[in-house]
Amino acid sequence: MSINIILLGPPGAGKGTQARKLVEERGLVQLSTGDMLRAAKSSGTEMGNRVAEVMARGQLVTDEIVIGLIREKLSEGGNGFIFDGFPRTLAQADALGHLLEETGMTLDAVIEMQVEDEALVRRITGRFTCNNCGEVYHDDSKPTKKEGVCDVCGSTDLKRRADDNEDSLKTRLLEYYKKTSPLIGYYYAKKKLHSVDGLAQVDAVATEISAALNG
Ligand code: AP5
Repeated sequence: MSINIILLGPPGAGKGTQARKLVEERGLVQLSTGDMLRAAKSSGTEMGNRVAEVMARGQLVTDEIVIGLIREKLSEGGNGFIFDGFPRTLAQADALGHLLEETGMTLDAVIEMQVEDEALVRRITGRFTCNNCGEVYHDDSKPTKKEGVCDVCGSTDLKRRADDNEDSLKTRLLEYYKKTSPLIGYYYAKKKLHSVDGLAQVDAVATEISAALNG
C-alpha cells in the first residue's frame, strides 16, 4: 500500500534507522534532507559549500534550500515517501502540504519519536556510518562484528559525522526544541500525529510504528 509519512524527532531519535526498516518492509522511498544536504556538500557545488558550515555548527539550513530539494524529489514521482528530517519548521510543513496537494498525494501519518536528551547525547556521540553503503552503527549498541569493517558491505571506510560532537549537538537540540517541536501540535491538530517510545529497542520501536500505521 502506498503511504506518505513523516518521521519527526530530535537528532539521534532513530529516524534514519526506522526509515531504512520501512524502506525494506514497505518499499517506500526515503527522503532524508540531511542525506541530500550532505550529498550536496560533498559534490562541492555552490549550494553545498554554503550549507556545509551551517550544518557543522548544528544550525538549520534555510527553508528555501530544503523545500527546493524536496520539490525536486517529489517531481520525480514515486510510490509512497518517508520524509526523514523534513519538515523541521512550520514554513516547511506548510510547503510540504502544498507540494503534496499539487502532486495529488496525501499525508497519511506523522510519527513522533520521543527520546530524552541524555540518551540522544549517548547515541549521537557513539554513532559511526559506513561511507560506502550507509549502514549506521553505534560504539555500544551496534558495533561492527569485526572492528573497523562494515558488516554489510565489508568496507573499511567508516566515518563519524562532522556535526556529531557535543557542541554541535547542543545547537541541534536547541534548534529542534525552538523550531521543530511546534510541529507536534501542528500535526496533532490535523489528526495525523502518532507518538512512539523511541527509547525502546530498535525492533520494538519498529513494531510500534507498524501498529500506528496499520491502525
Ligand atoms: P539530519 O541528517 O536529519 O540529522 P538529525 O535530525 O540531527 O538526525 P540524525 O541523523 O542525527 O539522527 P536520527 O534520528 O536519524 O538517528 P539515527 O537513526 O541515525 O540533519 C543534519 C543537519 O542537516 C541538520 O542539523 C541541519 O543543519 C540540516 N538539515 C537537515 N534537514 C533539514 C531541514 N529539513 N531543514 C533545515 N536544515 C536541515 O540513530 C542515531 C544513533 O542511535 C545510531 O548510532 C543508531 O544506531 C542508534 N539508535 C537508533 N535507534 C536506536 C534505538 N532504538 N536504541 C538504541 N540505539 C539506537
